[in-house]
Amino acid sequence: MKLPFAESFRIKMVEPIKKSTKEDRLKWIKEAKYNLFNLKSEQVFVDMLTDSGTGAMSDRQWSEMMLGDESYAGASSYYKMKAAIKNILGFDFFLPTHQGRAAENVLFSVLVKEGNIVPGNSHFDTTKGHIEFRKATAVDCTIDEAFDTTVQHPFKGNVDINKLENVLKADADKVPFIIVTVTNNTAGGQPVSLQNLRDVRAVADKYNKMVIYDSARFAENAYFIKEREAEFANLSIKEIVELMFVNADAMTMSAKKDAIINMGGFIAMREEKLFQEASVFNIIFEGYITYGGMSGRDMNALAQGLDEGTQYDTLDTRIKQVALLGQKLIDYGVPVQEPFGGHAIFIDAKRFLEGMPKEEFLAQTLAIEIYIEGGVRGVEIGAILADRDPETRENRFPKLELVRLAIPRRTYTDNHINYTAAAIANVFNRRKEITRGVKILKEAPIMRHFTVELERL
Ligand code: F0G
Repeated sequence: MKLPFAESFRIKMVEPIKKSTKEDRLKWIKEAKYNLFNLKSEQVFVDMLTDSGTGAMSDRQWSEMMLGDESYAGASSYYKMKAAIKNILGFDFFLPTHQGRAAENVLFSVLVKEGNIVPGNSHFDTTKGHIEFRKATAVDCTIDEAFDTTVQHPFKGNVDINKLENVLKADADKVPFIIVTVTNNTAGGQPVSLQNLRDVRAVADKYNKMVIYDSARFAENAYFIKEREAEFANLSIKEIVELMFVNADAMTMSAKKDAIINMGGFIAMREEKLFQEASVFNIIFEGYITYGGMSGRDMNALAQGLDEGTQYDTLDTRIKQVALLGQKLIDYGVPVQEPFGGHAIFIDAKRFLEGMPKEEFLAQTLAIEIYIEGGVRGVEIGAILADRDPETRENRFPKLELVRLAIPRRTYTDNHINYTAAAIANVFNRRKEITRGVKILKEAPIMRHFTVELERL
């Protein structure tokens, strides 16, 4: 008999989680003003709000925590992190930051000026926020296939090279760099092919522009290259990572994802000049250059996590668990984005709640229903997240209305996955009864999804 797939880890420590009833959850979500960010974690049974900082560290990472060097300057932990970044990603210079958006803040303080245009593939919301905050514009050049959840394409995260060239043809002087997000979170955790990374490099070279990778899930991207880009099937993950990053001048990293730590990030770059310019902002915003926003123990765990996060077995276990959720949902008839992303399954709320007007925030409505049904917390990737247009202040309605179920690394068992799929199937089976959505009572001027208050219609 062919042996079934099994996880490449066993469990050494457990964290109890609380069960609740539907009545409890109806009360709690009302008190939370129908914003899942307002729930207390103990009111959630399976938390798929994010895969960011929610992973389980390994015994080796915890051992590294004990070896952390908390010296203000020149800590050995800094050098450990520097060696890991050089070995795995190939960059000579780096700055630690407290998380990914802090890396964006520091780097963009050097590079982004008012009136600039920054092309990329579906910039993550903090990335876009840091661009727009500087009165610059983020232009989305993702391939069109990414916006149809039913289209099968192995690399839906790709940059459309024609769209990118058109931006540069028209406005090259306003473009400080091109940013490529690997994997493309906003488009559904979808990977970018190595060929596409090379094509972006070629366009950048033609116009003499820098290329920056937003690298939160770079290892998952490398796994998909190995699985789906035939030419690279026999290479190790680390070899593929090397081939990816030779095409970048710099990177920002939220280490809370593929480096499997709870807090931390960094910027890495090839040029000493950029390192020095960014160091000034790092010291003001984050901390001295040899710790930035991180403690020594976390830098140690990050270095170890980068190594583990780029091992084939770690990625294979992870991505197969994500696919298990996706396949279960498909078997129940639930419309999800295909192919499955690396860190999350995205439910297509427009196909799930057919006929509900976009003005009633259907993806948010669906996320609320899933919570009420099973205590499963996902997150809306739709019109609430998209915010208002900074000029017109009108709601921006994105092409896709999604509920993201992001799976923390090495945290939940396959039983939690089965439970989650069943809860969603129950909502799907009563979808005809869900005819009205929600309306906004109160919202912040930017990044409103974190604090928005809602009412059920
Ligand atoms: N870039 C990408 C692609 C991200 O997914 C995130 C965070 C960031 C940058 C910012 O990093 O959170 O460390 O400051 N994504 C999380 C998520 C929040 O849930 O997808 P951060």
